[in-house]
Amino acid sequence: MPEQLKTGIEGLDGILEGGIPKGHCVLLAGSCGTGKTVMCQQFLFDGARNGDNGVYISLVEPMEKIIKNMSPFGFYDQKLVDEGKVKIVDMMQDTRLRGIEFNNIEGLLGIIRSIIDDNEAERVVIDSVTALCENIQEKNNIRDFILELGFQLMYQECTTIMISEIPPQTFKYSVFGVEEFIADGVVLLSEFERKGELIRALQVIKMRGVAHSRNKHVMKILDEGINLIPMFRAGVE
Ligand SMILES: Nc1ncnc2c1ncn2[C@@H]1O[C@H](COP(=O)(O)OP(=O)(O)OP(=O)(O)O)[C@@H](O)[C@H]1O
Ligand SMILES: [Mg+2]
Repeated sequence: MPEQLKTGIEGLDGILEGGIPKGHCVLLAGSCGTGKTVMCQQFLFDGARNGDNGVYISLVEPMEKIIKNMSPFGFYDQKLVDEGKVKIVDMMQDTRLRGIEFNNIEGLLGIIRSIIDDNEAERVVIDSVTALCENIQEKNNIRDFILELGFQLMYQECTTIMISEIPPQTFKYSVFGVEEFIADGVVLLSEFERKGELIRALQVIKMRGVAHSRNKHVMKILDEGINLIPMFRAGVE
């Protein structure tokens, strides 16, 4: 059994019988507001508290906004940010500053490689792989790009969460249709309506090497972070 990294989200570590296998690249798919950023930030802060440096590579939100939105949560620790143990990088700005074209595959891979190296990151979040791929004009190159990115992250010995932005209530895990096959794991964040309320749910679709449950769990975003309850116990079926 490979070493497993606790995500810091108690319920998810339970579902995964210990956590994400070290070195895995996991696709976290969800529509807007399903809790993707909160979950990934909790994964990075928990890792940093236990000695793993983490980077959050953002293509959709500037660093200042992410910090402002995450700082009220119990898992957030400004000291870890100040010490560089959790680093939030605005990749769009980085790319612009380095004068690299957004559709330059080698350039994008190089930027991601150096962000990880510079921060000696073991945990990596890419928010989002959808936005990253949207920059690539030649859509035939997307499969090769994601494959190449996966190999690079593996050689850099990172455990990675790639965020996939999907439309609400669809039976799809990705926009380009290849991300889920290349990823070692897929976690789906979805939502459903009960008595006029939109309830969040989490389901592990696949996690190579782990005998995990595929039960739907009700997901709550609380002050301390993400909370999961098996659906059959949550009384919302
Ligand atoms: N302090 C808080 N306590 C409880 N819930 C919160 C708190 N802050 C934000 N939320 C909830 O979390 C939601 C946003 O979560 P998050 O930013 O992780 O979603 P996301 O899936 O990353 O969205 P997007 O696709 O827009 O990036 C908010 O819409 C709100 O419902
Ligand atoms: Mg987000």
